[in-house]
Amino acid sequence: MRYESINNELFVTNRKHLVKDLKANSIAVLNANDVMPTNSDGTLRFRQNSDLFYLSGVDQEETILLVFPDAPDKKYREILFVRETSDLIATWEGHKLTKEEAREVSGIDTVLWTSEFWQVFKLLMVMGDVEHVYLNTNDHYRADVSVETRESRFVKSCMERFPLHRYERLAPILHRLRSVKSKFELELMQRACDITASGFQRVLKFVKPGVKEYEIEAEWAHEFLRNGSRGFAYEPIIASGANSCVLHYIENNQVCQAGEVLLLDVGAEYANYNADLTRTIPVNGKFTPRQREVYDAVLHVKREATNMLKPGEKYYDYHREVQKVMESALIDLRLLDRNDVKHQDKSKPLFQKYFMHGTGHQLGLDVHDVGSMYHKMRAGQVWTVEPGIYIREEGFGIRIENNVVIMDDGVFDLMRNIPEEADEIESIMQS
Ligand code: GLY
Ligand code: MN
Ligand code: MN
Repeated sequence: MRYESINNELFVTNRKHLVKDLKANSIAVLNANDVMPTNSDGTLRFRQNSDLFYLSGVDQEETILLVFPDAPDKKYREILFVRETSDLIATWEGHKLTKEEAREVSGIDTVLWTSEFWQVFKLLMVMGDVEHVYLNTNDHYRADVSVETRESRFVKSCMERFPLHRYERLAPILHRLRSVKSKFELELMQRACDITASGFQRVLKFVKPGVKEYEIEAEWAHEFLRNGSRGFAYEPIIASGANSCVLHYIENNQVCQAGEVLLLDVGAEYANYNADLTRTIPVNGKFTPRQREVYDAVLHVKREATNMLKPGEKYYDYHREVQKVMESALIDLRLLDRNDVKHQDKSKPLFQKYFMHGTGHQLGLDVHDVGSMYHKMRAGQVWTVEPGIYIREEGFGIRIENNVVIMDDGVFDLMRNIPEEADEIESIMQS
């Protein structure tokens, strides 16, 4: 791994929390992600299943975690199964975790080979007084579940082989646990944000009229990789001029022109944790008066929105309040008419023409992290705050996005050191 080793207290504590939420006589099983194929013998880079990583810290394919808190034999209360290596694997793929290393990473004493899983699992299922079997499904509300994962194949075969056990969902428990970040997790997220900050500083000095969007992408990548990140947390959006109005623009193939804005929605990954930054800058180092006016309005909405975050708040109520602040900003910018707003169809509010997306989402091991959008916000959650105004008729859009931790008394901004004032951005670009 590129990241520094993580204190296994993080994973030990996470499993303790999970165990508290399981019914008596339960067994829980979690699987690694597949190494996903592309074409021919190609594969995508391996990305561990976030839930398995959260509970074990193991960043290796073909890993299985079994948790059986009431196991009659103590050594079966937690079992980690890892891929057995060989000379052939060592020659072609390199080092795989030894049992000792897997123990150290996860804090789990009993480590077996993955090839032994079904034999051990069957014994525990039929001899161990197991009543409830907790399995994992991807229950993110926007997940595409049409591709069968290693986990979903396991769910199928487990239920086929043991049809009369009682099955339970792990997802609601893990969503609740993962959504509140521990001290160790916040340190890793701060690292991801700090690496992102270095990338932004580098880009501020690089951007000028005539550079291509993908050259800017390369600057970010350079800074991320040299700091121990595996790269982008998500496909970066490097959108100059009118592209800044395309919310998921990822072509990044245009030439930046003087007088245009450049919207940068880019974040680094670190140790599987993510940052999610957006800044909008002037290509030639100076906003036009109109761009500046809109920029300041977005910054104002972002700050108001940040101040509204607190424990007990519910996302959709909060989002509605932010929309009201945005509506009045859009009137001040002469994009909406006060009288039209007064008489608007409430089911199709006029602000949606310029601000058509959410105010934020939770962030963590996943960029759009798990955790209910309906439940009350809790201290320790990390939310993005990302209002934007997109004016297609004027050929530019502006979004500003920070990542903040909800605290008992306000928020802690993980991106507090990343320039966001227009004057500061201009002065760095011109220096
Ligand atoms: N970069 C993805 C998002 O802002 O949600
Ligand atoms: Mn973003
Ligand atoms: Mn975001």
